[in-house]
Amino acid sequence: MKTFARALCGAVSMIAVTAAAPALAEPKAEVLHYWTSGGEAKAVQALQEAFAARGGEWVDAPVAGGGGDAQAAVLRARVLAGDPPAAVQIKGPNIQEWAEAGALGDLTAVATAQDWDKVLPEAIQNIVKYEGKYVAVPVNVHRVDWIWANPEVLAKVGAEVPTSWEEFNETADKLQATGIIPLAHGGQPWQDATVFETVVLGIGGTDFYRKALVELDMDALGSDTMVAVFDQMRKMRGYVDPDFPGRDWNLATAMVMRGEAAMQIMGDWAKGEFAAAGKVPGVDYVCASTPSDNGYLLNSDSFAMFNVSGDDNVEGQAVLAELILGTEFQETFNLFKGSIPARTDVPRAEFDDCAIKSMDDMVAAAEGGTLLGSMAHEIAQAGAVRGAFIDVATAHFNSDMSSQDAVDQLVKAIKLAQ
Ligand code: GAL
Repeated sequence: MKTFARALCGAVSMIAVTAAAPALAEPKAEVLHYWTSGGEAKAVQALQEAFAARGGEWVDAPVAGGGGDAQAAVLRARVLAGDPPAAVQIKGPNIQEWAEAGALGDLTAVATAQDWDKVLPEAIQNIVKYEGKYVAVPVNVHRVDWIWANPEVLAKVGAEVPTSWEEFNETADKLQATGIIPLAHGGQPWQDATVFETVVLGIGGTDFYRKALVELDMDALGSDTMVAVFDQMRKMRGYVDPDFPGRDWNLATAMVMRGEAAMQIMGDWAKGEFAAAGKVPGVDYVCASTPSDNGYLLNSDSFAMFNVSGDDNVEGQAVLAELILGTEFQETFNLFKGSIPARTDVPRAEFDDCAIKSMDDMVAAAEGGTLLGSMAHEIAQAGAVRGAFIDVATAHFNSDMSSQDAVDQLVKAIKLAQ
């Protein structure tokens, strides 16, 4: 990716994105994103409306496909063609790589005016800064390690949301014995990897997660603990319904909503779907972190402003950056999206118990050293390394591969990917 981006963009210097464009400029922005599900679409519509209210002309460039891999391919092709969109939904190390390639605008002026250093947690600043400069604007914090459950369905077997993996398996066995689908799942590689990383966190613990999925420690990757992770993944495979292959994540969420399945493991964009359907947390559904030693798997969406010409575009980028991190918009967007605000000073009054739990757990995890970047959602890893994890996790989930074979393949694949 580095050589690709560098080769593509050559030695372009960072363009300062400021609101000081000529008075005649009319803010305009083509926005490339992959938010097309019910809750996602409502959230991005709120951004469109806020931009329009600032006189902005929004050019929508959605690319369907949860997890964003399809969108990333479109972005590379657009940059290759010398026609990058003005603003792009982007995450984690990808931001650093495009910045290093000189493809991104410098948001320092907007960041200074809005004092981003004061309102953004360090973990988020590290994601959106390159060489000390802001090159992307964070819009949220999505927690990945959640269980979404239908309390009525669980009650059919006298269960509550499991708090350990043993309890998860016991409850799932009971549900299955009564003909209820224990785990709603969408059979797509990124979704398999999302479940995988929560199992790594839960079975191995936060230190093991850090060693294996962040630091790529070969002993950890090849360990008996990783064998135990794949053993648990094999069990999870047994708890999904036969129609899971290819299913979109939001359709799995809908199965829990309708009581066709008891639980889903997914990031809190799933809550955006419950909210969009008017469902009430604690009543129609319950949220709980997947079992672990107080880990927190962080994902955060941002918008990067690619180098584009034209005063209208630059003005549009500045207006977009400014409104995205405004307190009001941070509240509106995240209520729709199911995530929590990136900035830490947004009033909590409108947020539900799941969001409050995410806010408190994130602070506690940051203080306790258990705040970890998501691998599946491109915070801890991106590019070939992330691809290697996803390939092995999904190959194991969709076959009868043994756990030891999966571990051997993982070690080989990660070595090759580095
Ligand atoms: C994640 C993204 C979230 C959510 C999810 C499903 O990668 O960060 O905002 O949209 O994919 O599409």
